[in-house]
Order: sequence, then C-alpha cells, then structure tokens
Amino acid sequence: MSGAIPPVVLVHGGAGDIPDSRVANKLAGVKRAAREGYSRLIKTGNVLDSIEAAIHIMEDDDAFNAGRGSVLNLEGEVEMEALITEGTHMNAGSVTLVRNIAHPISLARMVMEDTPHTILGGQGVEDFIVKMGVPRVSDDYLITDYAKEALAEFKRKGGDPTKTEIGSDWVPGEVGTVGCVVVNSTGHVASGTSTGGITGKYRGRIGDTPLPGCGGYSDDDIGAVSTTGYGEAILKYNLAHRILTAMQSGMPTQNATKLSCEGMTSRLDKTAGAITVSNKGEVGVSFTSTRMAWAYQLGDEIHYGIEKGQHLVEKA
Ligand SMILES: *[C@@H]1O[C@H](CO)[C@@H](O)[C@H](O)[C@H]1NC(C)=O
Ligand SMILES: *[C@@H]1O[C@H](CO)[C@@H](O)[C@H](O)[C@H]1NC(C)=O
Repeated sequence: MSGAIPPVVLVHGGAGDIPDSRVANKLAGVKRAAREGYSRLIKTGNVLDSIEAAIHIMEDDDAFNAGRGSVLNLEGEVEMEALITEGTHMNAGSVTLVRNIAHPISLARMVMEDTPHTILGGQGVEDFIVKMGVPRVSDDYLITDYAKEALAEFKRKGGDPTKTEIGSDWVPGEVGTVGCVVVNSTGHVASGTSTGGITGKYRGRIGDTPLPGCGGYSDDDIGAVSTTGYGEAILKYNLAHRILTAMQSGMPTQNATKLSCEGMTSRLDKTAGAITVSNKGEVGVSFTSTRMAWAYQLGDEIHYGIEKGQHLVEKA
C-alpha cells in the first residue's frame, strides 16, 4: 500500500473577520508554511516533524495570532496555547497559559513525548519550560503594535471586564489560531494547533485549542482535524470530534468539515473554521467566518484561498 496515498500538508491561518490590510501577509504566510511542512514530510515521512515545521513558520510570522503576533489578554499580556495530536496511538500533548517562548507547538510535543500527561498549564508549564531547557523570548519579541492596538480598540468599544461578555458588544476581528493537518503516504495522520487566544480575554482563560476533540484531533482510522474560531463555542460543540465522527459514518471529508462548522454556527451562533485530511488523503476546508487563510501542497502544486469559495492553484 506504500505510495497509494498522496501525502498532504494542509494549514490554516485562523478564521475571523480578517481586515483587507491583513490578507496579503496571511496568504503569503500560509503558502510558505504549507511548502515548509511538505518538504519536511517528503524528506522524512514523519508527520509530527512536518506539523512542527509548518507551524513554526506561522508562530514566527506576526501576521498570525500565534507565537510572535499573539493577541493580548486584558492585562496586556501574551498567554499562549498549543495542541499536537497523532493518529496511530491517538496520543496528544498540549500546553496552556504559556508565556515567553517562541514555539508553543514544540512544547506541546514535548508534553506528549516526554511526560506521562496530556495537558500542562500554569506554574507547571513554567517548570517544564525550565526543565526542558526551552529558550525564553521577551515580551518585546512576542507583542506587536497591532496586538496592542487591538486591545486598545477592545477597551474603547466597551471591553470592560466587569460589564462585557467577550464577543457580546464587540466582535473580535481575529479570533483565529494557526493549524496544520498532515497525512503521509502510509495513511498516518497528525494535527497541530497554536494560538494566542482572543483579544481582551481574562488572564487564565483557556480556550478550545489545548483540548483534544475541540482544537484538534487525530485518528489513523479516520483522519485529522485542526479548528479555529470562537473558542468557547468550539469547545462546547467538540468541533474536531464531530467532524471525524461524521466522516466515520461515511460522509466525505469536505462535507463533514462544512456541515460540522455550519452546525456549530447554527446551534451556537458563533463562527468557526476547520481543516481536515482523511487517512486516504482527501482534503476538507470550511469556515463560517468571513475569511480564513488556508493552503496545502499536493505534489508540485500549492492550493490556497482566503475568501468563501476561493480555490487558487499555483506551482509550488
Ligand atoms: C508515516 O508515519 C508513521 C507514523 O509516524 C511512520 O511510522 C511511517 O513510517 C510514515 N510513513 C512513511 C512512508 O514515512
Ligand atoms: C457532499 O456535498 C456535495 C456538494 O455540496 C453534494 O453534492 C453531495 O451530495 C454531498 N455528499 C454527501 C454524501 O453528503
């Protein structure tokens, strides 16, 4: 069966109400991430190395709400979250409330591979960063002017933490994350998701991203998913899990991705997006937000888009 499945590396750069001024950089970034992840996959066949390579590109790029460029909590701080999942043993590793590192996705992989646990957060994640010798980065590196302006705007529009529910009076422009799903030529799948969360969140807020079945999910018997969008709704709905369950009942990958995102939006009145690969190499991309940047490499072509119904193709 070797070679029967076309290897795919599919990424997203976050679902949301993305302003025109951010479109070009996000598209350039997702294409670069898909290429990097694909070239790593072709070289090594290793689905987790491919996930990390693709997500590092987006964590380093301040066009995205992950790593450098993460949005700020109410206190003006960056608290990041990331999840990595693999489909062979259905293992997962995640971190939450992470401060001052460049690559939360790699820390999530360390939790999966080097601890008996699945999720680490708070002071424990600080201890783990020290123990694993992960280099620290400064607030100046992580925090961009764009993120500061978004928080100022949030507060100007009534983002009073004692009066305003996040998302009720103020619609966050970019609630997105970054994510990646991979299938290799023997049908093994993995997913990764990394985020700064949502502008103006309470300190200590934990979203969908670190939770398996919500922010991401992988099962070699079915496929892999990474989600993005309004975290509180995604986690209540178990969006990633629902997509794989729909596929398991026989629904095509694209249909399962689209119907599950639409189902969440109609049930909970919040928007989301998701990317999916099946263990056969089928691709699903859908979002109910106005925009979501996505890209995948298949053979020597890059497929990509950011608007509803858009599907562009160019040589890799
Ligand atoms: C696909 O990934 C699995 C799990 O990581 C690995 O065991 C396998 O060797 C990979 N396949 C190829 C063709 O590299
Ligand atoms: C999948 O979606 C396509 C396009 O919307 C539709 O034509 C097709 O009937 C759907 N298939 C299934 C099995 O749901």
